[in-house]
Amino acid sequence: MERKDRDLMKTNALRLKISLFTLVFTSLCLPGSRALAEQRPEVDSAMKKFFTAMLNLQPFAQSEEKFRDPANREVISQDLATLAGLKHVFPKKMAKEEPGIAAIAGIYAESMQDIADRFKAGNLDYVRHRVRTLPEFCLSCHTRVQSDRDFLDVEDRVDQFQGTPFQKAELLAATRQFDKATTALLAVLDGKPKGEMGFLEYTRALRYFLYLTVRVKADPELTVRTLDRLSKRRDLPEYDQRLVAGYLKDADFWRKHPTAGRDLSGEVLVKRAKELVERANSLQLFATDESGDISYLRATGYLHQALDHDPTAKYRGEALYLLGITYHSLEEPVLWQLDTMYLQACVRENPHTPIARDCYGKYASIIYFGYTGSAGTDIPEDELKKLGNLRQISQ
Ligand code: HEC
Repeated sequence: MERKDRDLMKTNALRLKISLFTLVFTSLCLPGSRALAEQRPEVDSAMKKFFTAMLNLQPFAQSEEKFRDPANREVISQDLATLAGLKHVFPKKMAKEEPGIAAIAGIYAESMQDIADRFKAGNLDYVRHRVRTLPEFCLSCHTRVQSDRDFLDVEDRVDQFQGTPFQKAELLAATRQFDKATTALLAVLDGKPKGEMGFLEYTRALRYFLYLTVRVKADPELTVRTLDRLSKRRDLPEYDQRLVAGYLKDADFWRKHPTAGRDLSGEVLVKRAKELVERANSLQLFATDESGDISYLRATGYLHQALDHDPTAKYRGEALYLLGITYHSLEEPVLWQLDTMYLQACVRENPHTPIARDCYGKYASIIYFGYTGSAGTDIPEDELKKLGNLRQISQ
């Protein structure tokens, strides 16, 4: 056997040992949504099926020809059906317990239903595009809060996947392989983006990197070190240079004023989140300016944690309000309705209170601007009805 191969085998065996150790060790002391998986062991086993289905679908999502081939129709539809099963893992009644996960699960379920309907109708290009955006759902749900535990992809299926380095990194993050995903994203960020697609992926990679270093790993040192390195690059598109400069300032503030979130009480977490939202807001020049994103991401981490901690606490209304504002600014592409979902929940759960009125006000302004274009404001009838209903509940 070649020396190189032997070394590789050794490293792989060691890696496996370390991962197994991490798995056993960390499952003894886990925060946040881990508790959820422990209460509902069906979550983990269902997620393993999603993992397999998601990877099975990738080659089809990559190739139009394979996706269109009638011979593949049956397997594709089976994997889509598996992925649609998420709604049974997170039943509706959870909405009261864990609004974040329930909200994402709801949007995801709607999206899967839409995909299934369009697939039946033969709208294949559309479906293929939607399948390609699915990892974003997985990723946003998994990166909500801090986590020490990585999923162990025993067969290294993501490594074998033939996609761009960015797509691999995205799949690693989507399937909770956070250490590997961080390394893969760093490689993308330190590389040179090529072509229009490369530029788009670069910007996305930057955002995903922050999800991981800010929320999952809570690592200001790595965040600052990386952004500092990227800020010296003049070969990046102007847009990314501006993003990096804005992020770096905010990350530097974080490094100088770190907050250990894990041991804080729910009340303190919400208070910290509020301070961060105010800070982020002051950094922004306009509503969706990204300069405050690190503070916003930190705030969402605290808020999800506070709600996980005690879903029925007094601070719940305020936490929902802050999440609404924050997700509005963060503008998640696949989760663009998340902001209004939090605000609606805030109004409905706190009828006739000042916090409901704040949430209603923010909701109304998002809807108003959402339906305003060059031709004026045109809000559909059912949306106006909902607005009226929410206003009455809040008053
Ligand atoms: C609504 C939220 C949500 C969505 C959407 C979601 N997951 Fe999960 N996932 C969870 C939770 C909760 C866990 C349990 C672990 C944790 O978060 O601490 C988990 C765990 C996992 C695990 C680890 C399982 C294990 O045995 O360690 C994998 C793999 C996984 N998910 C894959 C996926 C894939 C692929 C998708 C997208 C198709 C997806 N998940 C979408 C919430 C979600």
